[in-house]
Amino acid sequence: MGFPQNRMRRLRRTEPLRALVRETTIEPGDLIYPLFICPGSGVRQPVGSMPGVFQLSIDEAVREAEQAASLGIGGLLLFGLPDTKDDQATGAWSDDGIVQQALRALKKTSAAGQLVLIADVCLCEYTSHGHCGIVVQTPEGFEIDNDPSLALLARTATSLAKAGADIVAPSDMMDGRIAAIRHALDAAGRTQTPILSYASKFASAFYGPFREAAESAPQFGDRRSYQMDGANFREAMLEIELDLDEGADMILMKPAMPYLDVVRAARDSIQVPIGAYQVSGEYSMLQAAFEKGWLERDRAILESLVSMRRAGADFIVTYFAEDAAKLL
Ligand code: PBG
Repeated sequence: MGFPQNRMRRLRRTEPLRALVRETTIEPGDLIYPLFICPGSGVRQPVGSMPGVFQLSIDEAVREAEQAASLGIGGLLLFGLPDTKDDQATGAWSDDGIVQQALRALKKTSAAGQLVLIADVCLCEYTSHGHCGIVVQTPEGFEIDNDPSLALLARTATSLAKAGADIVAPSDMMDGRIAAIRHALDAAGRTQTPILSYASKFASAFYGPFREAAESAPQFGDRRSYQMDGANFREAMLEIELDLDEGADMILMKPAMPYLDVVRAARDSIQVPIGAYQVSGEYSMLQAAFEKGWLERDRAILESLVSMRRAGADFIVTYFAEDAAKLL
């Protein structure tokens, strides 16, 4: 074995040959498109830090959903910007919350038959302080109080499922939330609603642009007491195992590109479907390079997404979903 008998370039000579031996594929149906739903009508407010991403009122979100469906995209992931915020995250779990309203509107469209509607379950967009759970004062300052947050997360998930979410996706990183949500969904008769757990979610600088899009930046402190330390691989595996034990049907890994080793390891060790989330910062840094003319747009988008599929992700949440679907 070896040169000159072996010539690896033989199978790279033409595009049909390359296509024949290509190991990793990507289809529009593998992509999930995140939307930010805001109050009002006719609103299409650009997000400064994420060129090409908009805060959309429900009527505009419906149009976007129809576009996504016509491109063959797999589904939508919904985030909400409520009218008002408070310390109990009322907007997250109230039955007339912004995402609940959006789900009911989307369910009436023909697009709903072609798209999986995933509702993000978290409190940070709805709390006045921007944390993902209840905040309590302690002698040392403040803390995100785990157990009381669970009831609100469970209530949020149930309300979103009732409003029409096909899947609920908790992204808060409180301990025990999957079990709490499963229990609440079942008690509400939603035994068929799957939970997509953001099981392995690292505290990341790459969420920066999202917090502008979702207006969810913490007003004090940071998220490092609940999201994982980016240095920890074994802990990520343990988080995944625990979430599966608690009843998660699928898991989502985020960020994606800086953590592809974790995606690969998860794929090799668990059997449930796995998604990777190409987060806002990954999107924005590519967009910035495109604007500068430093990277070739179409190729860079597809290469970044293929890397996630190659690492073992079944599906990918990406702000490039529509752009990529047009390229495929
Ligand atoms: C809510 C949530 C965040 C993201 C998804 N769900 C923000 C955060 O944890 O601060 C980030 C998504 C992105 O950056 O695109 N907790």
